[in-house]
Amino acid sequence: MYTEKVMDHFQNPRNVGEIENASGTGTVGNAKCGDIMRIYLDIDKNQVIRDVKFKTFGCGAAVATSSMATEMVKGKTVQEAMEVTNKAVMEALDGLPPVKVHCSLLAEEAIHAALWDYAEKNGITIEGLEKPKSDISEHDEDEEY
Ligand code: FES
Repeated sequence: MYTEKVMDHFQNPRNVGEIENASGTGTVGNAKCGDIMRIYLDIDKNQVIRDVKFKTFGCGAAVATSSMATEMVKGKTVQEAMEVTNKAVMEALDGLPPVKVHCSLLAEEAIHAALWDYAEKNGITIEGLEKPKSDISEHDEDEEY
């Protein structure tokens, strides 16, 4: 049911942990399944993401997507990180079963929440970034399936 890449990132998740004094942190949850994800970003003065860590209290798909998403935003500028959507993460994992698509939203939303936190602390605007939702089930689900 899961691709090899999903299994790999689930069993050996990259970038697990936390960053002290992170430039931005974001926590989001999915009220439907109760899963929670937190992302920490370390961003330098050129707005490049130097390091990223995550903690996920969630299902295997949530762990795998957060692991892949952290790999994809590392080394990117905050603006480039906006292109790491849940669809891009799913593609990089060679797909997820349809019932698990919502799990990949947790990673995207947590990154956005952390970017929002960073932007607010530094008084900058990141194009296309909207105020994060604390609960991803607030999304209009029709667009996801
Ligand atoms: Fe909750 Fe996957 S079932 S994030």
